[in-house]
Amino acid sequence: MMTSGLDASTVTEWEARVATERKRTGRPQGFPELPDIPGGRYNDRAFFDLERREMWQRCWLYAAHVDQLPEPGSFIVWHHGSAPILIIRGDDGEIRAFYNTCRHRGAPVARSDSGRAGAALVCGYHGWSYDRQGGLRAVSEQRDWQDIDPSCRGLVGVRCERYGNWIFVCEDLQAEPLQDFLAPISRYLNHLPLETLRLVDRREFTVQSNVKVLIDNFLEAYHFKLLHGGTTDRIFDNSGTSVHLWGNGHSMMLSPNRRDDWVDPGTIGMPEMANCTNIERNFNPSYNLFPNLIVPIAPSGIPCVAMWPKTLRTSAMEVLWFAPDWGDGPRDPLWDKRIANFDRIVDEDIQFAEPMQASVESPGLRSIPLSYQERRIYHWHVEVDRRIGPARVPTHLRVADELGAYVE
Ligand code: FES
Ligand SMILES: [Fe+2]
Repeated sequence: MMTSGLDASTVTEWEARVATERKRTGRPQGFPELPDIPGGRYNDRAFFDLERREMWQRCWLYAAHVDQLPEPGSFIVWHHGSAPILIIRGDDGEIRAFYNTCRHRGAPVARSDSGRAGAALVCGYHGWSYDRQGGLRAVSEQRDWQDIDPSCRGLVGVRCERYGNWIFVCEDLQAEPLQDFLAPISRYLNHLPLETLRLVDRREFTVQSNVKVLIDNFLEAYHFKLLHGGTTDRIFDNSGTSVHLWGNGHSMMLSPNRRDDWVDPGTIGMPEMANCTNIERNFNPSYNLFPNLIVPIAPSGIPCVAMWPKTLRTSAMEVLWFAPDWGDGPRDPLWDKRIANFDRIVDEDIQFAEPMQASVESPGLRSIPLSYQERRIYHWHVEVDRRIGPARVPTHLRVADELGAYVE
């Protein structure tokens, strides 16, 4: 069992922070006026390429839930890396990731986005076959390949590690272990039964906007009043939202329920996750596992939103639900309504993303000022530059590290 940082004293401290937020009349004394974020970070093609190469393609990224790979040979092909990545459960039950690229002449080894491989994955072009651990098993027409060393021709691996039932991949072979990367944030999640939560639902779609336009939206509650007047804003009191900044770009915002005794009527009768605290019950703790996994926890289940860049102007978005095991049989029919309710909130969120793409590409976008309550966005950008190496970011696009003293 990993250690939890969300112990009784932390719960009390976080509750007190919300109470302080509700009372404040300005930003805390000494908190700096944050410099504007340069607009080019949202529309400059060279910066997009730099960020993708040096940050996205070298960072640990959520890829799948173990329920998508139930048995040896189950695989998916994941499309949010530098190239298609095959994630497959081996004969030993381990889940591994490889570029979906045949070591002969580069054909895709798996031709569908999910399925179950038999004893071997056979490349459809010339018939090289790979075992379910990625090793080259046999080449066809062996008489022509007498000197080939199969041990050097296995599928090229990508880092693949698990946090609970969530599978993460990373294309940087030198990256720190996933557990170390997540440590500043996972300490507040480790008490939850992440090893046993099941995948309730997932849907993926394309949004016609830059990925940062989307991610920024999920890092602040400033938009609740106007975008979620009939939904989130009726439930949560944003005047009490407290913001927590942690290492490696991770962060959280904690919004209190408007009423202490409020329970989401759509969840009545659903089992609660083990070990929930007052934080999950009376607040909406919305975590961001840097860079792109938004995790707003509710006691009876976790809806997540993940976003990845596709092009400068398009993003992939996935909406996911995880919940305690419901045993045999289909999920509770209550889920349909609950998922639809959350989808409505997500639709409210992205209603601005697509029209914003044109307006952030406009000469009218000079720079982006961020308020005190939007400081998670600033923290996110600082981490991007830290990972790229600030000296490699063109001077006019840099974001200075002004928040160091506020990272807990
Ligand atoms: S490209 Fe796969 S066997 Fe030739
Ligand atoms: Fe929102």
